[in-house]
Amino acid sequence: MKKSIPRELAECGATTAIVLGSGLGEFAAGLEHIGSHEYSGLGLPASKVPGHAGRFVVVRLVDRPLLIAQGRVHLYEGWEASEVVSAVVMMHEIGIRTLILTNAAGTVKPEFMPGSWMMLSDHLNLTGQTPLRGGPHFVDMSEVYSRRLRQIFHRVASRQGTILHEGVYAAMHGPQYETPAEVRMLQRLGADAVGMSTVPEAIQARALGMEAAAFSCLTNWGAGLSPDLLSHDEVTSVGKSAAGSLIEILREALPLI
Ligand code: HPA
Repeated sequence: MKKSIPRELAECGATTAIVLGSGLGEFAAGLEHIGSHEYSGLGLPASKVPGHAGRFVVVRLVDRPLLIAQGRVHLYEGWEASEVVSAVVMMHEIGIRTLILTNAAGTVKPEFMPGSWMMLSDHLNLTGQTPLRGGPHFVDMSEVYSRRLRQIFHRVASRQGTILHEGVYAAMHGPQYETPAEVRMLQRLGADAVGMSTVPEAIQARALGMEAAAFSCLTNWGAGLSPDLLSHDEVTSVGKSAAGSLIEILREALPLI
């Protein structure tokens, strides 16, 4: 599909954007909306997964425009890595230089309780795919998630008395959840959380020179770490109830970026 960027979006003036994952779509509620653009009208792929809308919303946060990407598409839906990151490429084209990614993830570290948030310090790309296939080649990945941004978010979280873990996110292709053996493997590989998104977008953001941060809402124990079975409905509902504490952190931290 041909991409077309309406002038209102191209000139929205936002330099920071947030991509909202499962259950976090409500972040934009209660903020002053300046404009809204469905992905389908922009030539971007849109998800059919419940809990993932597909639109850009421009809001005003403390007198500055902020771009919110409500929903994303995933490799497991059958999209190519280049399609999964096409919204990130468009955001860069319209002037976004700081990208905040959010997702829902299973916790694989026993100390990180479901219902809490983890900021990504690093990732393991276990999807077998990359948006950089075909170039650019050999992009440095030493600091995909900005140290500077992490310091700001930690400062704000501790001022607010909110637990904000930091750890390594393992990206799996999905769409099935992991087996208990896979979760044990991930623990041995050094992962703290596991999910099915974010990493292609973070790799693309790095390649474009954007400053990125990412947050996982730890919605459930990884398979085998509790007697419960995993369900998407539970992931979405835990994500919704945990959203408030990240929203508070972002509202205070974003003006400091
Ligand atoms: N595994 C993979 N993706 C997820 C999980 C999980 O346990 N929870 C939410 N997204």
